[in-house]
Amino acid sequence: MSYKKLFSLDGKVALCVGVGGLGGEIARGLHEFGAEVVVADRDKMRAEGVARTLFPNDSRAPESALEIDITSEESVTEAISRVSKRFSRIDVVINTVGFNIFKDAFDLSLAEFEQLIRTNLTGAWSLSKVAAQAMVERGGGKIVHLSSVTAYRGSPGQSAYAAAKAGLINMVKTLAIEWVQHGVYVNAISPILTDTSINREWLHAEAGRAEQFAAKIPLGRLGDPGDLVGPAVFLASPASDFLVGQTLSVDGGATVRHPLLG
Ligand SMILES: NC(=O)c1ccc[n+]([C@@H]2O[C@H](COP(=O)([O-])OP(=O)(O)OC[C@H]3O[C@@H](n4cnc5c(N)ncnc54)[C@H](O)[C@@H]3O)[C@@H](O)[C@H]2O)c1
Repeated sequence: MSYKKLFSLDGKVALCVGVGGLGGEIARGLHEFGAEVVVADRDKMRAEGVARTLFPNDSRAPESALEIDITSEESVTEAISRVSKRFSRIDVVINTVGFNIFKDAFDLSLAEFEQLIRTNLTGAWSLSKVAAQAMVERGGGKIVHLSSVTAYRGSPGQSAYAAAKAGLINMVKTLAIEWVQHGVYVNAISPILTDTSINREWLHAEAGRAEQFAAKIPLGRLGDPGDLVGPAVFLASPASDFLVGQTLSVDGGATVRHPLLG
């Protein structure tokens, strides 16, 4: 048996949901590895922009960009059914939707807390469920969620976001165990701080903040969207066929450094 096609996504249909800084780059990576990619975002223009970069001068671009609100099960169902109808299959779903409000708990309202959980956790559950149901009909597929290194420890201003991202890691384990018998693989990636729209305002609110964070990461820099492409392609491809319910920390060594001795 040859291993040359282990990372190939040829013939696979991939839906990338949430195509901001990290998701847009991951979509490009899946496309370059051979997948037929459809992108979806609450911001339709953002999805259309990514689709145009994937399919320049190609009539596929408009139909490869969908509007989706992951907090609405109706919207999630509509997106999955459009992809399934167009291609008669859906093999890969990458969820890179994310939303944060940087506020200490005393300043965070209940409505904001619930919105954070709904976007980062509940939406991920709905998307997983609807996607997995479509995948089961075709013998299986791969689902990848983006958690965060914020999930592992406490940090100020993150009570809802960190709770959602920690919940996501256990949800991934549980769904993976429930669905692996149907050929549906569920795994996750935890990125570290990367300069994208989710945190740009906060990251640059104080001079030197980005540099301070970079200095704490063993590799000496913040994440780059391109750092996520290899792990996402891996988890979407046959190369990861024995990985079930895992979360890969893609963090330049930050979470393995000893917090007191390192
Ligand atoms: N950038 C980082 O430092 C970092 C670190 C750790 C984890 N993450 C996680 O990685 C993922 C990608 O983040 P990013 O850096 O690309 O952020 P981003 O803000 O650039 O992209 C997030 C995308 O999600 C979309 N979105 C928000 N709410 C939505 C909804 N209800 N329905 C559909 N789409 C919605 C936004 O329109 C945006 O395009 C997120 O899950 C984020 O929590 C990011």
